[in-house]
Amino acid sequence: MKDFEKMGSFYLGRQVDDTTGSATGELLLYDAKDLTTHGMIIGMTGSGKTGLAISLIEEALIDEIPVIAIDPKGDLPNLLLTFPELAPGDFLPWVSPQEASREGLTPEEFARKTAETWKKGLGDWGIDGARIHKMRESVDLAVYTPGSTAGRMVSVLRSFDAPPEAVRADGDLFRERVQTTASSLLALIGIEADPLTSREHILISRVLEEKWSRGESLDVPSLIGMIQLPPFSSLGVLDLETFYPTGARMELALKLNHLAAAPSFAPWMEGEPLDAGRFLYAPDGRPRASIFTISHLSERERMFFVSMLLNEVLGWVRTQPGTSSLRAILYMDEIFGFFPPVKNPPSKTVLLSLLKQARAYGLGILLATQNPVDLDYKGIANTGTWFIGRLQTERDKARILEGLKGASEKGFPLQEIDRMISGLGKRVFLLHNVHEDRPVLFQTRWAMSYLAGPVTREQIKTLAGDEASPAAPATARPVTAPAAGTMPQASIESRVMVSGVNSVYLPAPAGVEAEYAPFLGAFASVHFDDRKRSISETRDYAFAVEFDAGPVTVDWRNAFELEEDPSRLAQGVPTPVMAEAPPAALDPKAYTRWGREFLKWLPQEARLAVMTCPSLKETARSDESRADFAARVALARREMRDAEVEKIRRKYASRLTTLQNRLMRAEQAIERETEQARHKKLDTAVSFGTALAGAFFGRKVNTYSASRMGTAISKAARLQKESGDVARARETAEAVKQEMAELEVAMEGEINALIPVDSPEMAIQEEFITPKASGMNLTLLGLLWLPYSRNSQGGLTPLWGKR
Ligand SMILES: Nc1ncnc2c1ncn2[C@@H]1O[C@H](COP(=O)(O)OP(=O)(O)OP(=O)(O)O)[C@@H](O)[C@H]1O
Ligand SMILES: [Mg+2]
Repeated sequence: MKDFEKMGSFYLGRQVDDTTGSATGELLLYDAKDLTTHGMIIGMTGSGKTGLAISLIEEALIDEIPVIAIDPKGDLPNLLLTFPELAPGDFLPWVSPQEASREGLTPEEFARKTAETWKKGLGDWGIDGARIHKMRESVDLAVYTPGSTAGRMVSVLRSFDAPPEAVRADGDLFRERVQTTASSLLALIGIEADPLTSREHILISRVLEEKWSRGESLDVPSLIGMIQLPPFSSLGVLDLETFYPTGARMELALKLNHLAAAPSFAPWMEGEPLDAGRFLYAPDGRPRASIFTISHLSERERMFFVSMLLNEVLGWVRTQPGTSSLRAILYMDEIFGFFPPVKNPPSKTVLLSLLKQARAYGLGILLATQNPVDLDYKGIANTGTWFIGRLQTERDKARILEGLKGASEKGFPLQEIDRMISGLGKRVFLLHNVHEDRPVLFQTRWAMSYLAGPVTREQIKTLAGDEASPAAPATARPVTAPAAGTMPQASIESRVMVSGVNSVYLPAPAGVEAEYAPFLGAFASVHFDDRKRSISETRDYAFAVEFDAGPVTVDWRNAFELEEDPSRLAQGVPTPVMAEAPPAALDPKAYTRWGREFLKWLPQEARLAVMTCPSLKETARSDESRADFAARVALARREMRDAEVEKIRRKYASRLTTLQNRLMRAEQAIERETEQARHKKLDTAVSFGTALAGAFFGRKVNTYSASRMGTAISKAARLQKESGDVARARETAEAVKQEMAELEVAMEGEINALIPVDSPEMAIQEEFITPKASGMNLTLLGLLWLPYSRNSQGGLTPLWGKR
């Protein structure tokens, strides 16, 4: 395993020495869990913010943490440009021909050069094609383009869905949801409304509140209708007509109607519903990264879309159980305009709530911007991780420091930050993490995704991701006609009547001419009971089997499951029939035998598949989709791992403290003995101490610090000609240091020995529960006639479905 493939930590780059500015070689690993207190990336244009965020998202995806990314500039679809082979041909469609010609190269030559650059870049950071492959395999990536048909579409305006119960039950949150929806909608039609004084705002909010509080959704036409004829006659203490007369309400309704009638409106109505759960997990349970590119939208439309999406995320988060592990990431590549310090656009209200509430539910929010003056200070106060990159001017730096000072209650080490961020190079960031004791500088690692820059709409078309597979239409299979019967129809009917055989048929759709063929039909209700997995469920089954002309009339192994609803069956013998039922089918005694055989055979077919994760002792509930269960299990696994790692760290931390105290006493002894060499020794102790602290906090990798400890130790050993006392004290110190180094190695070993979250033991498995004999109930066994239609060539098509 590579040093950076540590569980639960993101490999973001390598540390840079803050005094010399040169690389120390030590990896920068960021604890995924720390992102639950959110992060902010700040740096001038070109400083590498998007590159850093893309790398962080890549790390999340390798760890199977889903991501929603809002992309105001168009760069984030680059996340789909990952090529495990790193072949020139992979890059060719994405390199810019203009850039190629600027360098005097053909696109092919330029693609070859770019492929080389990427291969070398990644190689320098210890990343190969296999890791790119792993990332691609772990997740489903999708690019959405709201309001445009280029990528996947989201139907934002089809309906204003009632927020989930968890939001409706929380008075403040519900009011906020109503208000931000009203503000976003009004902003979309060009009305910048104050929630307290604007009558448009008050009216729309009241309409939404009326509907939503009853759990009902609302579409644009019905909203327009309700603006004209509200279901209430007063607003506040005022009569509706006085507050907002009919004529004026009509104007508002017309404005909304213009919007709805505009051709550009149609794409807002189509596509996938605005559903955060769906954006985070594919139906098969794979985690997703959903990228929402909005660079093609107008400012109003962007504000509208972003507010609606954030609203949805906030509602979704509230329906999730709490956790301290990282469940999902919400990234926004440029926050400018959405989170301003003074104004109050709808996006800001939602973002503030999200920053406050998301933490408890494990949603990490990462925001990027060129300057913190674009940020609301209340939002800043809730942020635990800061990545500060190169800044344009001294003045910008001063503003950043000013911004941080105002925002921080815990106290940023401002002087230190000031010193460290002066004159940063490209792709070098300061990381200030409230969970760490001091800020560090690091250079961002090479991104696995090809950072081609903004992609065109044409390119997005090829990138949009696995298309939502349309439900396959039940294709009718032509069959060969059973040998036509010779018996007159009336005779079958009368014989059925006489023999007392139960005969039923599936009526053909109205107006369709059909002929009927005989089958043996068996309907059963099956109860599945499994205390251990707390399953108690009843399912209905319908099977049919053709009668065989051979010695065995009925062989259940040839049976198939019918897709039809048994309640559609009618009693009797239909006309016309295309084939006669064999004589055995008219013998009631045969049915007793077939029924017995059926019940013996049924358990092989009627099995209840349940998804389980045995290592976690979790079983999917019957109403739980694969995606929901996978999400629940993934989070449980992460929680388990975080807890185990924490336990190990804690266990070692107390032993470390003991050793540290012993080391301190030994150092004091040496100090007492050798006054004159004091400076040097302290230096040794300090460099040793830092190397070690890093390892114990688990944020950095041990290999380098172990070798650095080697240096520290030999440096100490080289110190010469001391008195016997000093030598003994020094020996003690060395022994303690040795012990500390061993302790570190042991701890790393224990952490690495934990079962990785993506190991097969942790995977979701399918198990089958078979019914007990007493749980199976035969509800109908009889002659079953199924309809066919015949074409002009005599071919037959069944008018019923098989499962
Ligand atoms: N991690 C990385 N790996 C490889 N190249 C990178 C990385 N980060 C940045 N770059 C290079 O630097 C360029 C600029 O970086 P990036 O786009 O991340 O800057 P930015 O801070 O997001 O700028 P802006 O504010 O204009 O969006 C990228 O187009 C890419 O060529
Ligand atoms: Mg950028």
